[in-house]
Amino acid sequence: MMGHVVSQRDSRFKKLGKEDLDYFKSVLSESRVLVSKEMGGNADPTELDTFNTDWLSKYVGHSQVVLFPTSAQEVSKVLKYCNENTIAVCVQGGNTGLVGGSVPVFDEVVLSLSKMDKVRSLDKDSGALVCDAGCILESLDDYVGEFGFTMPIDLGAKGSCHIGGNVSTNAGGIRYLRYGSLHGSVLGLEVVLPDGTIINNLSTLRKDSTGYDIKQLFVGAEGTIGVVTGVSIATARRPTSVNVAVLGVNSYQDVKNTYIQSRKDLCEILSAFEFWDARCMDTVLTGFNTSNPLSGDYPFYVLIETSGSNDEHDEAVEKTMENGLVQDGTLAQGKTQISKMWSLREGIPTVLAQTGATYKYDISIPINQLYDIVHDTEVRLENAGIYKKDAAPSENYPVKSVNGYGHIGDGNLHLNIVADKFDDKITDLLEPFVYEWVENVAGSVSAEHGLGIMKPECLKYTKNDQIVSVMRNIKNMFDPNGIMNPYKYLPENK
Ligand code: FAD
Ligand code: MLT
Ligand code: ZN
Repeated sequence: MMGHVVSQRDSRFKKLGKEDLDYFKSVLSESRVLVSKEMGGNADPTELDTFNTDWLSKYVGHSQVVLFPTSAQEVSKVLKYCNENTIAVCVQGGNTGLVGGSVPVFDEVVLSLSKMDKVRSLDKDSGALVCDAGCILESLDDYVGEFGFTMPIDLGAKGSCHIGGNVSTNAGGIRYLRYGSLHGSVLGLEVVLPDGTIINNLSTLRKDSTGYDIKQLFVGAEGTIGVVTGVSIATARRPTSVNVAVLGVNSYQDVKNTYIQSRKDLCEILSAFEFWDARCMDTVLTGFNTSNPLSGDYPFYVLIETSGSNDEHDEAVEKTMENGLVQDGTLAQGKTQISKMWSLREGIPTVLAQTGATYKYDISIPINQLYDIVHDTEVRLENAGIYKKDAAPSENYPVKSVNGYGHIGDGNLHLNIVADKFDDKITDLLEPFVYEWVENVAGSVSAEHGLGIMKPECLKYTKNDQIVSVMRNIKNMFDPNGIMNPYKYLPENK
């Protein structure tokens, strides 16, 4: 069911006993070891469910124990012990991941970073921030904002996701267009390896060309080779002038051409360019019980943001709104309207998830063909008789909607199919169809969400055998006992 399925627990992993719990308590204290009633603890079952269930409620694990370290030293003692005793570990940040990487598959011990949430330093000259991995992204942005800086990453889950989770998934988000990948903004990391070694590489230098850049291996490693406990990251100057507009356009080609034109017209002040289709807009307007900021309805919507230090930028945005491709547009007047416009885009995943079981495909595709896959998916599901575009409310199909939105400036589409429930028949129609489609245009099966438990067997559509083999060697070098986030990330070694 649901694509990649692991049916059997790896019998090499030790089942936890009282002696293990005693050890964890001796390192962390009783209050930072959550144990199920079944195992003699007093955790409220719903409390454990939170750590066992992913954000989409698609993946559910069966862990009985959650550990809450507060320092790299504690993480080191726990991991060393787990490694020596072959105890499987699932590292968890804010648990907002969308590929099932953050929850256990069977009974792995959950290592939650949520109590490692302190800012360590901020260099007020350079903007280099050093903090614990469990700091929540939004709290960091608020903190550095006091000093005129901003985080180089922003995403809809900012209120819950951790910076360590962002680093570990190589998250993209809505500022990627402006500030680029975390591979560029992360200056250094503190990492604990499975054998307990603490690698302190919390450099705050912008430039350092002294050999292999080890930290890069942990950016996007999804807890498979170690635990990120500290992050050093380059923040940016907070723009003093921000303009946001929502535009209505008639076709995907007009979305694309508006993007190309905006890059020309707005050049360095363009800081975000997002799009979504009419179905997303209808769902989000209904979900938020709010009205369209434009006077009419359109097949596609674009959110354009400019930012910099000059208040006159709104004139540049207005010029874009008059470029002939745009049917209608409205420029936000003030902060409240800016956040309302952003909430229409950022609210899409949450509102879609409230309407049903959401199959999420986060893919990189050349922008010319970016929306074609949405049409092709609709046709496939219609031909299978399980979906009808614009079906009347009285008609009941298992697939309710096929939605496209995303970070067009980064060539990243989010194809979301909402169904009554997660069902093998639907999965089989979507996979490998979507992945083969992506492979045919030399795209990526994961633009920004990672691999988790959902995509190990799909890696082959984007990475060749040689690359997968190097990845496997890296995994084995850091984690020879395979205790870190097992069953995920890499395809099964047949
Ligand atoms: P978790 O979900 O807890 O973990 C994710 C993975 O990282 C797991 O494999 C876990 O084992 C590992 N991990 C977590 N912390 C550590 C650590 N300290 N050390 C080692 N491994 C660790 N993603 C985007 O890229 N762009 C978006 O725009 C975006 N928007 C989102 C909007 C919503 C509403 C939601 C729910 C999710 C969104 N995501 C987005 C996905 C998700 O928020 C990101 O992947 C985020 O970076 C995950 O952070 P987290 O702290 O929640 O990590
Ligand atoms: C987004 O861009 O909204 C996020 O990546 C989450 C999602 O894909 O739904
Ligand atoms: Zn996204």
